[in-house]
Amino acid sequence: MKTSYWRPTWGLIHRLYTRTTIRTPNQLRLGSQTSSFQRSLLALSSAQQEQGSWGSRHSKTFASFPTIAATVFATIYMSCPILKADDETLEPPKYPWNHSGPLSSFDAAAIRRGHQVYKNVCASCHSMESIAYRNLIGVAYTEEEAKAMAEEEEVEDGPNEEGEMFTRPGRISDHFPAPYPNDEAARYANSGALPPDLSYIVKARHHGEDYIFALLTGYRDPPEGVNIREGLNYNPYFTGGQIAMARALYDGAVEFDDGTPATTSQMAKDVVTFLAWASDPHQDERKKMGVQAIFTISVLFLFALYTKRLRWSLYKSRRIEFRDM
Ligand code: HEC
Repeated sequence: MKTSYWRPTWGLIHRLYTRTTIRTPNQLRLGSQTSSFQRSLLALSSAQQEQGSWGSRHSKTFASFPTIAATVFATIYMSCPILKADDETLEPPKYPWNHSGPLSSFDAAAIRRGHQVYKNVCASCHSMESIAYRNLIGVAYTEEEAKAMAEEEEVEDGPNEEGEMFTRPGRISDHFPAPYPNDEAARYANSGALPPDLSYIVKARHHGEDYIFALLTGYRDPPEGVNIREGLNYNPYFTGGQIAMARALYDGAVEFDDGTPATTSQMAKDVVTFLAWASDPHQDERKKMGVQAIFTISVLFLFALYTKRLRWSLYKSRRIEFRDM
């Protein structure tokens, strides 16, 4: 008698996979009862086992109970609405930011306008310690503009050779000046609340840009029955609905040097774009590198695919025959 067949491709992969997978004791026992003969054959030639029985028995190794339970639990957990401890807070709407797509870059003109808003409005209360004037070069300003801007500031430096501190005009390597000498002074000037440093504020709040835009434009009269504490302002987007920062942006609060009308929402959008850039200045380069990496990996993948097919072609086209001698 003569038996011959083509080995099915998936059967081979599956068999290799199940041979390297840890089996539960139960399955091991099952296996040892029925297939010790099969396994000794396997040692000689794995081709001799019957495809059907192997496949069905060992596919159990794919499905382990804890994995399934964890997946089901995670799915249910993540689809449940999150309960907030405080129901006074409004969730900000989603806004279509120019820079939020996977391939989109920051709007440089908006960063420039946003810096003007920060400098003229927010900088009187908020510091931005992590940003230096030189960071703006090539992003929103030329080197000359950045130098001129830095020189407008008086920076304390020192000590000099006499051990005295002195002031000098700012340099582009200087960071933005802080409005208050320390946190206590900042609290004292703002009825006890500390205006946070804005360098990373977009990353430091849930809903990032959307939240800050909603916060800046969300000031309104409190609804009936809501009592606002002395020195606080009603803002439904802030946790608790009462914020120590008063409304900062009013139409025409700044004059943009590119002539854009300075409406409240325009200024809010621009300052948020500026803050988003400040909290992630390398975003554009990172996205560009991502595209390059995906392209390179795709090319390498084609090579890998070709090599794999070449190497496996031997096994996949092998024909095994058993003959009764
Ligand atoms: C008069 C001072 C003042 C000005 C001007 C000001 N802020 Fe504030 N800001 C504060 C204070 C005080 C807080 C802290 C509020 C609190 O904790 O109740 C604050 C908080 C914030 C917060 C954090 C809110 C949170 O979720 O914790 C952001 C963001 C913010 N300000 C952005 C801005 C921006 C952008 C501008 C400029 C358009 C600005 N602020 C102008 C005083 C100011």
